[in-house]
Amino acid sequence: MNREDVISLLGPSWNEFGRLVSDSLRSDIALLDQVNASLMENAGKQLRPMLLLLVAGASGEISSDSVHYAAAVEMLHNATLLHDDVADRSSTRRGQPTLCALMGPSAAVLVGDFWLSKAMDHVVNTKHKDGAIKLFSNTLSLLAEGEMLQLQKAERADTTEEDYLRIIYCKTASLFETACRVAAISVDAEPRLCEAAGRYGRALGMAFQIRDDIFDYTEGSEIGKPVGLDLKEHKITLPLLGTLRSCPDPDAIRGMVRDITNHPEYCDQLRDYVLGNGGIEYASSRLGDFISEALQALEAFSPSAHRDMLRTIANYNAIRTK
Ligand code: IPE
Ligand code: IPE
Ligand code: MG
Ligand code: MG
Repeated sequence: MNREDVISLLGPSWNEFGRLVSDSLRSDIALLDQVNASLMENAGKQLRPMLLLLVAGASGEISSDSVHYAAAVEMLHNATLLHDDVADRSSTRRGQPTLCALMGPSAAVLVGDFWLSKAMDHVVNTKHKDGAIKLFSNTLSLLAEGEMLQLQKAERADTTEEDYLRIIYCKTASLFETACRVAAISVDAEPRLCEAAGRYGRALGMAFQIRDDIFDYTEGSEIGKPVGLDLKEHKITLPLLGTLRSCPDPDAIRGMVRDITNHPEYCDQLRDYVLGNGGIEYASSRLGDFISEALQALEAFSPSAHRDMLRTIANYNAIRTK
């Protein structure tokens, strides 16, 4: 997937999206203004607003509401990352120290709150606000529930595959689903297309988080954040769950995850165990199933350059390296 191709297909709507984000993050509190500027400078992949505008273009004519929702979704995503790095005690994001590492958890939480409320400002004045507010606020509660369920499960290291799928739906896929669904709504697409857009987003979001969880086991990747953090935080993700399926004593492995803080050497041992026993292959195969589901959902749309790009992005996620 070539980022420049996506941007050129999106035309002026992409610049407008960037302008909306930076205008809405101005503040006369110098410290906040500086922090916002430096966060924007190191912006990340901006995948969610790209998907949103592409779905809008595949479902009709990109509208002013589409661009406001694109700004909202990216700002909301950034807010959750600021909070997530506090929750996960993570030192690096996008190849740079996290705001939490630089300025402490209070600043990271407060700046996250600011981005979150500015994100919602982009939704409340739009033509399709009734549907959009419901979707965004539902996703926000799911995000918090997903992170809390993850914490609850981490305490006992008893995550099942069903728990895992629920967690990643809540914390990641639901925002993709909302982005794609609200995109179709923003151009007054018929309900059938809004449904299909949501299905595409959900399946792609599931695949996206599974890929992220595979990265956590794969050292030397270009992801710009630490690897091996999930196990340290007692998070049992799909690669380990895949290995546990054929493990003669899964309780012993779960016990190691629970004791990992007292036994840092378990990190490497568990990682080797997963890599040597088909864990990555299992996760990759489930990832492939979600990609197929995403591609299937795209069949509902008429042929267009936007739909082709959505297909390319889905295929790219199966092999992405960052
Ligand atoms: C990171 O999302 C959080 C996950 C859902 C895995 P991205 O990988 O899209 O983060 P940026 O915005 O590109 O840094
Ligand atoms: C995704 O989970 C975080 C959010 C969706 C907020 P992770 O904790 O795996 O994301 P990274 O790895 O820190 O980006
Ligand atoms: Mg994290
Ligand atoms: Mg991760």
